[in-house]
Amino acid sequence: MSAQEPTESQLGSGERDYLTRNRGAWNEWAAEFVTSGEASWASHDPTWGSWGIPEAELRVLPAGLDGKDTIELGCGTGYISAWLARRGARPVGIDLSKEQLATARRLQDEYGLPFPLHEGNAEELPFPDASFDLAISEYGASIWADPYRWIPEASRVLRPGGELIFLVNGTLAMLCSPDSGDAPDETLHQDYFGIHRFEWPDWPSVEFHTGSGDTIRLLRANGFEIEDLIELQPPEDAKPVTVSPDMVSLEWSRRWPSEEIWKARKTGA
Ligand SMILES: C[S@@+](CC[C@H](N)C(=O)[O-])C[C@H]1O[C@@H](n2cnc3c(N)ncnc32)[C@H](O)[C@@H]1O
Repeated sequence: MSAQEPTESQLGSGERDYLTRNRGAWNEWAAEFVTSGEASWASHDPTWGSWGIPEAELRVLPAGLDGKDTIELGCGTGYISAWLARRGARPVGIDLSKEQLATARRLQDEYGLPFPLHEGNAEELPFPDASFDLAISEYGASIWADPYRWIPEASRVLRPGGELIFLVNGTLAMLCSPDSGDAPDETLHQDYFGIHRFEWPDWPSVEFHTGSGDTIRLLRANGFEIEDLIELQPPEDAKPVTVSPDMVSLEWSRRWPSEEIWKARKTGA
């Protein structure tokens, strides 16, 4: 199956400006993510999303990671790859930001858990076809890179039967986010059809979010079968992993999915 080509409108007029903008933004923000990165490296029990829902409950990671080749797309501080390494996988991370990778490298040294880290763009991976068994992204390339570019690349580097797992903001949360970039409320502020590139005032960065139908078609066009769409609902007493002013409230997240995890498998095994 051939990769789906992005259309002019999907790429936007300022083609690829987002790479420079997002690299700059993440180099600047990296210092603010050191503490949460350290806490996640210290934990041996993976959790998912802003409310820290335990892996034991969600079962996101594949069983039998021992000896598997994994690639984390937009690895940031690298804690997901650390969790994979502790389960016997052979992780590789790639990230656009030198500063985020500096934190990842320092934590690798601290924990004695070395694995390759590449500075680069998840839309143009420096690896041969069929190199990995699992590609994973938690708020990494999954929201900061163009899905019409990074999903075909993930497919290319996965072996037949390989898995793609990615965590993103929930679609309803994006639609209920006001133009100001404040936290979602109970109003549909954004149109749904054709969503793709998002920018917020006073934010240097660019994000990408697609509607569920478009995501399904994009995955299928790139040789994936969808295995699950896990819509995260935090428990009543959930505490946020990190606090930020634009964060979705617990009350909102209890009523609607503020975050979702897609699981897809590359066909042809
Ligand atoms: C929320 S952070 C990292 C997520 C990671 N799970 C963590 O918390 O450390 C998002 C990361 O995506 C990276 N990123 C953004 N665009 C990217 C791209 N096109 N290719 C690779 N990484 C990218 C950023 O540099 C940033 O480190």
